[in-house]
Amino acid sequence: MVEYSYSPTGEGFQLPSQEDYLKEFGRVEEMVNDQRNLKREIVVVMGLGFVGAVMAAVVADAQDGKGNPIKFVIGMQRPSSRSFWKIPLINRGLSPISTEDPEVALIIDRCVKEKRTLAATFTYDALKFADVVIIDVQCDYLKESLGNVRNGQAEMKALEESFEIVASHISPNTLVLIETTVAPGTTEQIAYPIMRKVFRKRGINTDPLLAHSFERVMPGKNYVASIRDFWRVCSGVNEEARRRVVKFLNEVINTKEFPLTVLDRPIESETAKIVENSFRATILAFLDEWSRFAEQNGVDLIKVINSIKVRPTHSNMIFPGPGIGGYCLPKDGGLGVWAYRHIHGFEDDIFKITTAAIDINDTRALHVAQLTRDALRNMGRPIASAEILVLGASYREDVGDTRYSGSELIVRRLTEMGAEIRVHDPYVLHWWEFEKQDEYPASSHSLKRFFRGQERLKDLRVEQSLETALHRIDAVILAVRHKHYLNLDPDEVVKSSGGPIAVIDCFGILDDERIRRYFELGCEVKGLGRGHVKRIKDHVQEARERMLLKMSGETVKGAETAFKKANL
Ligand SMILES: NC(=O)c1ccc[n+]([C@@H]2O[C@H](COP(=O)([O-])OP(=O)(O)OC[C@H]3O[C@@H](n4cnc5c(N)ncnc54)[C@H](O)[C@@H]3O)[C@@H](O)[C@H]2O)c1
Repeated sequence: MVEYSYSPTGEGFQLPSQEDYLKEFGRVEEMVNDQRNLKREIVVVMGLGFVGAVMAAVVADAQDGKGNPIKFVIGMQRPSSRSFWKIPLINRGLSPISTEDPEVALIIDRCVKEKRTLAATFTYDALKFADVVIIDVQCDYLKESLGNVRNGQAEMKALEESFEIVASHISPNTLVLIETTVAPGTTEQIAYPIMRKVFRKRGINTDPLLAHSFERVMPGKNYVASIRDFWRVCSGVNEEARRRVVKFLNEVINTKEFPLTVLDRPIESETAKIVENSFRATILAFLDEWSRFAEQNGVDLIKVINSIKVRPTHSNMIFPGPGIGGYCLPKDGGLGVWAYRHIHGFEDDIFKITTAAIDINDTRALHVAQLTRDALRNMGRPIASAEILVLGASYREDVGDTRYSGSELIVRRLTEMGAEIRVHDPYVLHWWEFEKQDEYPASSHSLKRFFRGQERLKDLRVEQSLETALHRIDAVILAVRHKHYLNLDPDEVVKSSGGPIAVIDCFGILDDERIRRYFELGCEVKGLGRGHVKRIKDHVQEARERMLLKMSGETVKGAETAFKKANL
């Protein structure tokens, strides 16, 4: 049976057959021979995901002092039906990633079409040519319950497979740079023994040259710069691996302006990544309880945070929105907790803060469903069968990455409560967490399993026209700070929806003026951490009552006399 892989725009690409592999190897070999004649080092990037695709382009763009390209990069991606389409797309000079950073498309186009320093392939045999291999495949952490990160495990299958595949193909002198965020201990205690064993089987008596240097990529407006022009930490399993990784990173990353930190051992570089992300997850989780406090006590947490952030010591405080999401923050602390027991063999329970932070972040979005329920109830509309529009599917503003987004949890909980859900996101064409909820992110690991009544969500499609999405809804949830949602005009929104609606602000998107206008238009407004909306509502209500009084002179005169009498 012929199998296809579909790109996000719906273009189908036939998965390669056995004969295709031989042809593909010939194509790669020819390119490599040409590039070797040009004295370029051959770099294979394994895994063309959010990190690998752009890292591959950054390396392919590297040049010497005279402006000559110094590397030829082969992006290697396994031909799965989910990911194979990335290969033909890159080979056309097109970015497989939808992002706000225009440099992503430009750098891929330039390296593929002009410089001819970047190509993509599906054959593992490309590894035979590598001077350097960069591993950018995923390492997941699978949670067994919602809101309890301790109950889970590192999913290392793809990564362990990659170590074996790499070791069976490379030459003994190839530098293998692991960029994947891994459980601390992985490079030395998992990758090294796997690769060494394969080397020995191949009759290679030297040890694999393994290094670790984690990515700090931020898929947003500065996507490329966050890889190329940013500080890096690295380490190697031995002196030679360390020397090689430092040399390589100095050649491809802007280490002049963003100096490298070289640590003694890979476990330190691996731990640096986990601690860095756990720290961030913790400061975000910290505001969850203050967000609740604000909602219950008439406080606008957004203004409070802004007033604190003027202190330089507190400038990295950020409002958490409906959960944190993204691929890294929800899982990285879990990898550390898991490694403590399952790689290093400790039994005691030392983790308190990292685990609490992840659990809080993982469930924060559920509160949005409660706010929506309450706002609709105030308007006399039951949540069951209400039409609710969620604005934004991705986990952060101006990117098309939906992994572990707070919006997914909002949709799942509201569906469980009987609501009809619509979604709009200008960056997301397919929300695979729903469309393929039985197999994505892994079979039996969809968040679906924590909620009831989720079957119909596989038919959820992301609406691209905001106007159409708004038509005849009962509530709108501003779930992501996409630039498209920051300046929505309340009058236009209410006109498009055909009447007053409930508006739920998850990210401090609405200023007081807009909140006031929604109330004037008969809407109900609620927001995470935005306790002051009630005050605005009361003002609007009072103003409305005053207006009504004014409308009848008689009534006003009567009222004045009454006020005087009452000494008011
Ligand atoms: N996405 C981010 O913002 C980000 C930021 C910093 C660090 N990281 C880390 O970088 C790593 C990669 O993340 P990502 O977001 O690029 O993941 P991803 O899932 O987007 O990409 C991984 C890719 O590897 C491919 N792959 C898996 N096994 C393979 C194999 N054997 N051979 C070839 N290809 C294979 C997959 O098909 C996929 O395309 C993770 O450890 C992640 O934690 C990610």
